[in-house]
Amino acid sequence: MEKKLKVANIGMKFGMCHVEGAMNYGAEIAAICDCNEENLRFAGERYGFPEEKRVTDYMDIVNNDEINVVTVAIPDQQHKKVSCDLLRAGKNVLCEKPLALTREDIEEIIRAADESDAKFMVGQICRFTPAFEKAKEIIDSGAIGEIYFIESEYAHDYMKLCDEWRADPARHGVIGGGCHAIDLIRWLVGDPIEVFAYGTHKLLPMVDYDDATIAIMKFDENVAGKVFVSTGCKRDYTMRTCIYGTKGTIICDNTSPTMTLFTVDEEGVTKEPETIAVEVNNHNAAREFEVFADAILNNKPVATDAREGAKTVAVCLAIVESAKTGVPVKPDYNF
Ligand SMILES: NC(=O)c1ccc[n+]([C@@H]2O[C@H](COP(=O)([O-])OP(=O)(O)OC[C@H]3O[C@@H](n4cnc5c(N)ncnc54)[C@H](O)[C@@H]3O)[C@@H](O)[C@H]2O)c1
Repeated sequence: MEKKLKVANIGMKFGMCHVEGAMNYGAEIAAICDCNEENLRFAGERYGFPEEKRVTDYMDIVNNDEINVVTVAIPDQQHKKVSCDLLRAGKNVLCEKPLALTREDIEEIIRAADESDAKFMVGQICRFTPAFEKAKEIIDSGAIGEIYFIESEYAHDYMKLCDEWRADPARHGVIGGGCHAIDLIRWLVGDPIEVFAYGTHKLLPMVDYDDATIAIMKFDENVAGKVFVSTGCKRDYTMRTCIYGTKGTIICDNTSPTMTLFTVDEEGVTKEPETIAVEVNNHNAAREFEVFADAILNNKPVATDAREGAKTVAVCLAIVESAKTGVPVKPDYNF
């Protein structure tokens, strides 16, 4: 069992959340890495890391035997190469979502994770968002009965966010951003067995893929679902999510300080809604790191391991394919 976590963080934009998550946990940060010197300097100064802890080449982390935990927050197209190099060097890896953009890359990460004794976690951060954690707790308590319908969405204006790697058609909005809502749905009600989708493209002139997609989903157990992804929307960021059960309904999102719970009286009639206060924390990297550290230190399984991250991308890929072909698609979970 590894007793002490020596952490390195790769990618100093969104990845600064991982630095903060690890620092909040009290782990030692042995190195930070970014191939862009300006971004590296900014993060180094922000957190007070001396020059000797700042590296521009992630191979310096791969080859550093002292480091045993690495977080990866670099463009999705590079997740496979960097994660596999780290896993093969025996590092525990927390890699950002989506796991990867192609089945080929996904399969290689799964192989590397299977062949390693180290832990691998995909950062499906919505599983640590307070409102969604609370929704999961309410569902598991049975308070809303059996779920018959779930809808979630990822609506986020990429007008200013759409840099080169996000404009890559392989990084379709359903995979890059929609994976949050799709992973949330999978976590709350399970794996859809079939999806059917329509897409439109009116908002992001710089991309070659649909910037809005709506998919309906069929699950086992008489459950249906829907996901809406818009990466050009003219509104503030939201992942509004409604979970409909036979005895109640939950309405929540990742950016509101409250969520709403409807339940029924003894006669099955809907009661006045309950408003539940929740912390707004849609990037709960502190909790995410804590869970990963616990898995490493106490040799526990990681809930969002490589296969779990792969299944979320499998649903995303099925949605993109359905919108393109106009026919329903069954996600391929065979990893
Ligand atoms: N969980 C979330 O809510 C969330 C939010 C934003 C981004 N992300 C994910 O985080 C990852 C990074 O996104 P971002 O917004 O920070 O992207 P970004 O392009 O803004 O920043 C990426 C950083 O990584 C650096 N980089 C690129 N390749 C590198 C390499 N090989 N070695 C070292 N540094 C390298 C770049 O110089 C840059 O500083 C992506 O996978 C993205 O999908 C997740």
